Formats: sequence, structure tokens, C-alpha cells
Amino acid sequence: MDTRPSVNELFEHRLTCPDFELKERLARLVGIDGYKARLTKMLGLLVNPAGLRTWAKRYHPRANNVVNAVLERPPLVILAGDVGSGKTELAESIGDAVARQEDIEITLFPMSLSTRGQGRVGEMTQLLAAAFGHAFDEASRLKAAGGGARGAVILLVDEADALTQSREATQMHHEDRAGVNAFIRGVDRLARARLPAAVIMCTNRLGALDPAVRRRAADVLLFGRPDDSDRHVVLRQPLKELGFSDPEVHAVVAATGAREGLDYGFTFSDLTQRLLPAIVLDAYPDRSVGATRALEIATAMEPTPRFEAGVG
Ligand SMILES: Nc1ncnc2c1ncn2[C@@H]1O[C@H](COP(=O)(O)OP(=O)(O)O)[C@@H](O)[C@H]1O
Ligand SMILES: [Mg+2]
Repeated sequence: MDTRPSVNELFEHRLTCPDFELKERLARLVGIDGYKARLTKMLGLLVNPAGLRTWAKRYHPRANNVVNAVLERPPLVILAGDVGSGKTELAESIGDAVARQEDIEITLFPMSLSTRGQGRVGEMTQLLAAAFGHAFDEASRLKAAGGGARGAVILLVDEADALTQSREATQMHHEDRAGVNAFIRGVDRLARARLPAAVIMCTNRLGALDPAVRRRAADVLLFGRPDDSDRHVVLRQPLKELGFSDPEVHAVVAATGAREGLDYGFTFSDLTQRLLPAIVLDAYPDRSVGATRALEIATAMEPTPRFEAGVG
């Protein structure tokens, strides 16, 4: 009996870029412009390696080795950091920027390991192997003769903490190790075939990431909490819409930063998914939102605790 999971069982949804909604989601992410650019460039090269060769021919005609070294990096990027810091948002929407830059269609296959594969023994391993197999087949179809590609695939392995549970491989449960190995095999196989495919892994626990996985990453992007100016960008427009003055906006921005006895402030998602709704729902249904009350709510609200010391 074939028990391999089907495409629909594997991936929650499939996103195709370019897509206007994804473009907007990407644009809404604040304070990570450098990451957006780095990721777009890296993914763009996987789709279109000829671009780097053209660049080298023009600027560094003798730089064969270094250009090859760049192109031979495994197609893996790790996004790591606190919960609610924009990892999933960036991973899901960055394909839109790459699609527009390279003028190509990109399909994103997102799977989350937190909701999957924690059941039967061997399930996670099987899911990963099937997901990589699917990405491989899809990318093979898109590879064009001559090094270019008609399209590209991004496999998103989200909430990948299940792959990172132990620093010490020897302490790892046999089954966890098998999952890590399936992941590594999948990345290596895509790399060897030089397919227009990339893997983005998101984890809240970089410190516990398996060293063999980390070593393969072409890039590791660390996500932290918003600073004063990031929080101002996120809060300004919604609070202005509610009638706040500039000083009132600034007061809420300050109240959501680090405070007495706590060396961290609100996460991005604390602002968008907890604070702003709390302010609105406090006034609903028979009052308007007031700045004094909003400030009280912000001050009384605890930021989400840090997931892991040292990151975020
Ligand atoms: N850099 C950011 N700028 C603006 N909003 C953000 C940012 N990062 C996160 N958010 C908000 O937090 C929510 C959760 O982000 P998400 O990407 O799911 O976090 P993570 O995957 O890191 O846990 C987003 O939907 C968005 O509303
Ligand atoms: Mg996430």
C-alpha cells in the first residue's frame, strides 16, 4: 500500500507569484529592508545563475572560482528568531519580489512542522521526504536548457523547531535524527541537480539548530524585536486613523518598548495582533478610542516573553 502523503495533504496552501496580495504583505513588513534585498538577490541567483556570470564577465572576467563558489551554495536560507518577528510573513511573500525581478513565475509550497508530523513514528521523516520529492519534481519540470529557468519553486519548512530539538546529535531521539537526515538529503539533492528551487526554513530556536543543517545554509537571517522607529512605523498609521496626535502616538510607542525591570519590548505581532485589537475592542461598542485609555492598555500589557535568550 502506498502511504505517501499527497500534495494536498503536504502543503496547507500553494501560493503563486507575482501576486498583488503578496506584494502588499511584503511591503507591510517594517525594519527588514536589508533582509528583503539579501533574500531577493539570493533567491534570484538560484532562479537565474546566468545573471551572476554576466555580471562577472563585465566586472571580473577572471573571477571564475569565486563566482562558482557563490553559485554552488546549497539552496537553503534559515530565518531564525523570536515568535511574531515576521519570519513566516517574509518567507511567504518574498517570492513576489523575486518573481518580479526575474520576470518569472514562482510557486511557494509552505509546510509547517509544528502542526504536522508529530503523530506516528516516522511521520515527520516521511512528510519531509515527500515534500522535498515534490519540490524536486516540480523544479525539474521548470528547468530550461541553457541554465535559465521558466519558473522556480520555493519550499518553505516553517516552524521547524522539531528539526532542531537537540544540540547534541547523540542525545537526539532516533526519530528526530531521521527527520534531520531527510531534510539534509533533500537540500543536497536539490543543490546537486542545480534546480530552480530554494528552501526557506524558519525556526524560533537557532541555538538548538542541528549543526549539519546550519552548515548548509547559504544565509542565516536573525529576526529581532522592533526598535523605537520600527514600532513607530507600525503604530503611527492606525493610531492616527483613530484620531491620536503625534505626541500621543509617541507615548504608545514608548510604552511598548523595553521598560523598568524588563529588557525587551513588544514583538511585531504583539503590536498588530494584540495591542491594536485590544485598544479597539476596549472602546467597542459604545465609546470612541481615547489616547489615555490606549496608553493604559499598552502599559498593562506584557510583551510576549523571549523564546530563546540571545536571539531577538
Ligand atoms: N517586520 C514586521 N513589520 C510589520 N509587522 C510585522 C513584522 N513582523 C511581524 N509582523 C506582524 O506580526 C505578525 C506575525 O508575524 P509572523 O511572520 O507570523 O511571525 P513569525 O513567523 O516570526 O512568528 C504578522 O502577520 C504581522 O502582522
Ligand atoms: Mg511563523
